[in-house]
Amino acid sequence: MTQNERKQAVAHAALDHILPHLENDMILGIGTGSTANGFIDALAEIKNRFDGAVASSESSAERLRTHGIPVYDLNTVSELRFYIDGTDETNEHLHLIKGGGAALTREKIVAVVAKEFICIADENKWVDVLGAFPLAVEVIPMARSYVGRELVKLGSDPIYREGVVTDNGNIILDAWNMNIINPIEVEQAINQITGVVANGLFAIRPADLLLLGTSSGVKSLTIQ
Ligand code: A5P
Repeated sequence: MTQNERKQAVAHAALDHILPHLENDMILGIGTGSTANGFIDALAEIKNRFDGAVASSESSAERLRTHGIPVYDLNTVSELRFYIDGTDETNEHLHLIKGGGAALTREKIVAVVAKEFICIADENKWVDVLGAFPLAVEVIPMARSYVGRELVKLGSDPIYREGVVTDNGNIILDAWNMNIINPIEVEQAINQITGVVANGLFAIRPADLLLLGTSSGVKSLTIQ
């Protein structure tokens, strides 16, 4: 099975998971990235079984609309039963590093509103300790240098993601070599830096269910 086939497999596993719960007036939270794109494409096959979606990025919103799936502003939605999204890394506690696609802030907002966060990922995203993948930090542009210096104090090597402007008009610093032995503490520490909008650690609000694509099939994992 190729990596792409494993991504397709987890997308369909997520669809199977939510299918029994779908209702005509239900709105789904939808993430960003190639794995989430596979899910959006699969979702299009059953678009008459639910009302619409809230997207965690403009690119996912565009893909949903292309499939004829209505996209809602989160402010008009009182409840999200599910949020389905990919990840850049996951550990056994379903703490995640996300933000490779620079959509971390909206992803966090949709994840925190959702009742159940289903993470879909290929097995190469599984790690013992988070942090080999650089930790994305969304920053208000004028605070870039200050936040960079504060990230150095936390032990990381931040690098400005050149040419990237987030959907919120901000910039991304990628914090390399961050020591993430305690993900919740690191997430909180970065959140405390003035000028930080959000960081890509999803530990305070981890995933609830991980559907991991492996060569022997899709594994279903919940928080250990
Ligand atoms: C977007 O900002 C990220 O959080 C993505 O969810 C993450 O990078 C996973 O992307 P892939 O599914 O393309 O690996």
